[in-house]
Amino acid sequence: MSKPAKSFFLIVLSFIAAVAFAPVNPLICFSIKSCQNIHILERLVALGAGMDVVSGGELYRAIRAGVDPAKVVYAGVGKTDPEIIQALDAGIGWFNVESEAELANLCTIAAGRRQQMRVALRVNPDVDPKTHRHTTTGKKETKFGVDLERARRVFEQFGRDPWARLRGIHLHIGSPVFQAEPYVEAIGKALGLIEQLRRDGFAIDTLNIGGGYAAGYRDDQTPTFESYARKIVPMLAGSGLRIILEPGRSIAANAGILVTRTQFVKQGGDKQFVIVDGAMTDLIRPALYDAFHFAWPVRCDERFVPPSRGADLALPGTVEVDVVGPVCESSDYLAKGRHLPPVQRGDLIAVFTAGAYGFVMASHYNSRPNAAEVLVTGDQMRTIRRRETYEDLTKAEENL
Ligand code: LLP
Repeated sequence: MSKPAKSFFLIVLSFIAAVAFAPVNPLICFSIKSCQNIHILERLVALGAGMDVVSGGELYRAIRAGVDPAKVVYAGVGKTDPEIIQALDAGIGWFNVESEAELANLCTIAAGRRQQMRVALRVNPDVDPKTHRHTTTGKKETKFGVDLERARRVFEQFGRDPWARLRGIHLHIGSPVFQAEPYVEAIGKALGLIEQLRRDGFAIDTLNIGGGYAAGYRDDQTPTFESYARKIVPMLAGSGLRIILEPGRSIAANAGILVTRTQFVKQGGDKQFVIVDGAMTDLIRPALYDAFHFAWPVRCDERFVPPSRGADLALPGTVEVDVVGPVCESSDYLAKGRHLPPVQRGDLIAVFTAGAYGFVMASHYNSRPNAAEVLVTGDQMRTIRRRETYEDLTKAEENL
């Protein structure tokens, strides 16, 4: 019973974005930061996906997974020279640049190597995506992109460089964005800018509209890809632009659950705590963003089968609990103030919508080995990342 149980279970991912956006024939670059296991990436590559990367490590994974480098887009405000060189060696499709200083550096490196690269300028359209302040990126006061007025000046300054070829506009307004409207507003502004740039003589051929499409953390809040596409596709059709999307969460989140085992049930004042072997070191979203993840015992009496993954179901006979981990932080919880069927030591609890920004944000805080990852296909299961051991924890500190 005391054996560690915490594991992420992932199912083969759907690729629904490709269907909804098919009329504009987009290149879909899966955002690796949401779910990076190379076995998952391999499956997406087999479905034709490109990859959105933000570091040398992610690029390494993408290449290991067999992605066509021409389908890789590389974002991030602080790419280092070795990372840029690694990406040039790999021959990636697009550098998404975020500042004049970064672009100046790219121009120098590309000229030095006499190697052409394709560059998209990330513009900050100053729209409010109405999401958590930590994941808002499209407003003026974030570190991402350059604002629209500055974008024209950036093209004047760099837009004729023969090596770093500025040919695209990149947007990413935040994540998760539950409505289509902020995209519509941002894309409208980007299209206006592109028109202006084309009039100024710059050959823009690509618009990358980023990621951020939401996932169904609650059943009543699950926008479909169609609901975004219905509003966005008509704006892009006929633009003559190559369209790129960078979805992560909307593909991976609901493909994964975190399964964790109840260690103890403890009463603390009026509160009941269900102490499990999973923690903020495995799924940090509740601690970091107050994020809601539906949690429910893996096995329960029929009368407790939840009708939906709602906020708090309060079915008769359930008990209000906090599901917490063993880490020494009071923010270490997975679910707070939820009505769960009574659980006891040894019971497994599933934490839903954990396939995106789950394992990838895991840490070793409190020297906790990371969970296993298991791929489920039909009734088959396969470990795609083994459970870490204590030896894994100290490996990088040895033989120095
Ligand atoms: N493209 C860019 C430039 C991004 O910065 C991101 C996410 C994406 C695409 C993918 O966004 P998605 O489709 O997955 O929403 N850790 C936070 C989310 C951070 C997202 C960062 N950027 C969370 O757990 O909610």
